[in-house]
Amino acid sequence: MKGIVLAGGKGTRLHPLTQAVSKQLMPIYDKPMIYYPISTLIAAGIHEILIISTPQDLPLFERLLGDGSAWGCQFQYVEQAQPNGLAEALILGEAFIDQSPVALILGDNLFYGQNFTPFVQAMQRTKGAAIFAYRVNNPSRYGVVTFDDQNRGTSLEEKPEQPRSSFAVPGIYFYDATAVEKAKKLAPSSRGEIEITDLNKNYLNEGSLKVNPLSQGATWLDTGTIDSLLEASQFVQALQSRQGVLVGSPELAAFQSKAIDKNQLIDLAEQSGASAYGQALKRFLHQ
Ligand code: TTP
Repeated sequence: MKGIVLAGGKGTRLHPLTQAVSKQLMPIYDKPMIYYPISTLIAAGIHEILIISTPQDLPLFERLLGDGSAWGCQFQYVEQAQPNGLAEALILGEAFIDQSPVALILGDNLFYGQNFTPFVQAMQRTKGAAIFAYRVNNPSRYGVVTFDDQNRGTSLEEKPEQPRSSFAVPGIYFYDATAVEKAKKLAPSSRGEIEITDLNKNYLNEGSLKVNPLSQGATWLDTGTIDSLLEASQFVQALQSRQGVLVGSPELAAFQSKAIDKNQLIDLAEQSGASAYGQALKRFLHQ
């Protein structure tokens, strides 16, 4: 399976922070935001990854992440000329996807405590799409989903005023190879975007949208507002300092998913030098 990280957009809710710097390069505690979704994909065994961003910001992501080989991965890059919506990623990524199943993750979403590997494996065998459901207090801010006792999606609405459930759809989606053709047929919404909710509705209408509640104890954070940005940093800081874990590390994810071996991890830890991040990698090696 291949993966796409969507790291474009305007980031207007974080102005003036994002006036000159991309949202997904902002720090979440000790590492850039995009490390989190990238490590989620790598941990799930997805090592061929396409990063999509704006023409201005894409070179910065290339500088940060390179070709992926240091982490045993292959990274490619594609510009999104305008923020035309999340589903445009499937169209921009057509050549990269090349008829494979694909996972799409938002560059400002942080997942902790959920193992996505079983979904990757299931998607190699089954047709359709798999999305997730996460109970929130304010569903109107999100895509809202309902589903039956077989976990089949029964309704999907984008930012509804009267939500039919308290289950929001987090920003990670798994698709079979038909997603590209489906995305191409979508018309832009009233806000001028090719909506991921409309793509997912396509699968829902086919009866092939699986909706999986995130595991009990799993956490999903969307870091698009200034308070959620701070909360995400505090969450990571608390976990790392209390439990000694390292959250959102592509190096560790690469090692744990066997993309790199222990000697490569030792080299990467050495390269991170005296930073808190480098120290945390070294602590992991000593455990
Ligand atoms: P949003 O948070 O919906 O949009 P945004 O990042 O532009 O922020 P704001 O609402 O504050 O203006 O986007 C979710 C994620 O998807 C985020 O990582 C940016 C990315 N994105 C794209 O890469 N391309 C797009 O066309 C859109 C709409 C978003």
